[in-house]
Amino acid sequence: MTKKFSLPRGTADILPEEVPLWLSLEARAREVLGCYNYKEIRTPVFEEAALFKRSLGQTSDVVKKQLLELVSSKEEGFALRPEGTAAVARSYIENSMDRREGVTKLFYIGPMFRGERPQKGRLRQFHQIGVEVIGPQTASPYLDAEVIALNVHLLKAFGLEQFTLKINTLGSPEDKENLSGILRRELNPQTAHLCPDCRERFDRNVFRILDCKHKECRAVVENLRLGYEYLSDAGREYYGKVKEALRGLDVAFEEVPSLVRGLDYYTHTVFEICAGSLGSQDAVSAGGRYNNLVAQLKGPEADAIGFALGMERVLLAMPPQEKLQEGGLEAYLIALDEPSLQTACRIADALRRAGIRSDVGYRISSMKSQMRLADKAGARSVVIIGEQELQKQCVTLKDMARGVQAEVMISNNDFSFLIRELKERRRETTCCGHIPAGN
Ligand code: HAM
Repeated sequence: MTKKFSLPRGTADILPEEVPLWLSLEARAREVLGCYNYKEIRTPVFEEAALFKRSLGQTSDVVKKQLLELVSSKEEGFALRPEGTAAVARSYIENSMDRREGVTKLFYIGPMFRGERPQKGRLRQFHQIGVEVIGPQTASPYLDAEVIALNVHLLKAFGLEQFTLKINTLGSPEDKENLSGILRRELNPQTAHLCPDCRERFDRNVFRILDCKHKECRAVVENLRLGYEYLSDAGREYYGKVKEALRGLDVAFEEVPSLVRGLDYYTHTVFEICAGSLGSQDAVSAGGRYNNLVAQLKGPEADAIGFALGMERVLLAMPPQEKLQEGGLEAYLIALDEPSLQTACRIADALRRAGIRSDVGYRISSMKSQMRLADKAGARSVVIIGEQELQKQCVTLKDMARGVQAEVMISNNDFSFLIRELKERRRETTCCGHIPAGN
């Protein structure tokens, strides 16, 4: 028997009825990002696996457990990208972007891949909108605050209101090393209460214990008394200014000393935005500063900060009224015989050229069954053409919502009356508060 194929686990088809919503999310993001002077970059969906291993850290969960490496008989050593930062840093170096401008502000929109155990809000292929700001000597608490404010602005532009911004600092690399020591000291007496993974993490990468979702580990972490004694004066001053700048921008935040983030490249400011409605996978967006990554990848000394938001999680957290689909069919053409179908196709062509969303019922069948199809297609108006209409050189235009109909002249193949009428209806529906279709 032939096999019936189905979706790989942890992936999803974005169906035609869902695509408008994705497009509107992307369009809103582009609009906001444009206001902050970000330019789009598109990098490949796969890179050398070593790029991710070196950037995110060999001991990070993303590399250790989730990296999807490509196995090919010809070429080896590639992996699907689990995130965008490493690839953007690679491209920044390869294209000598540091020589172009002082600060490079980039954004990307696209699929990322992680071999995770799928659950609600946790996929193997998911989509991120991410930003990265890279440039020599550009580390500034004011830039950190601006990037965080941009993240909040984006979520608000998507209609999200119920979320919490959590911030923390890891300080300089030396401060981070101190923090690692303090965590080991605090956790050492409690290792017996940790899950087997975290017991291993204790030696390899103690920060990861703070991200563990296991109940027992969370209980241990919640009882930790974490302060900021690991910070140098410079680290403390920088962080203080970030918080002050956030207050200046009216961005509400919660300070969470146990927020350390799962990827190795972070230093100084880290942040996460969570939506309570999402359950256990509640981070809609996350990011932080990574001043050493570009140099670590053999690039110039360049400071950097960025974040990425998960589009699937944003869609899960979006209020239903924001999910209104934009654009519907404005005209559905019904032909009752073959000569009428020829005319219907010519009219549809003229309507489309005039920017009116139109389609044709290509199968000649009864008026009743064609009206049913027009209704299913969600058409706002139906244009009916039959023998009678052809004789009178007109069409019957029916308004589906109001149920009223009228004849509109099409003499001498002049469809301008019909175009004007349909555009008038578009204006009326827009004024009534509906989302406009087309221009
Ligand atoms: P991340 O925290 O790994 O950071 O991912 C950012 C966001 O992507 C998460 O908050 C979540 O919304 C979404 N996400 C991550 N994994 C999944 C998944 N398996 N399924 C669905 N959504 C997911 C980064 O990726 C960093 N590159 C962010 C960054 C940019 N830091 C600096 N610049």
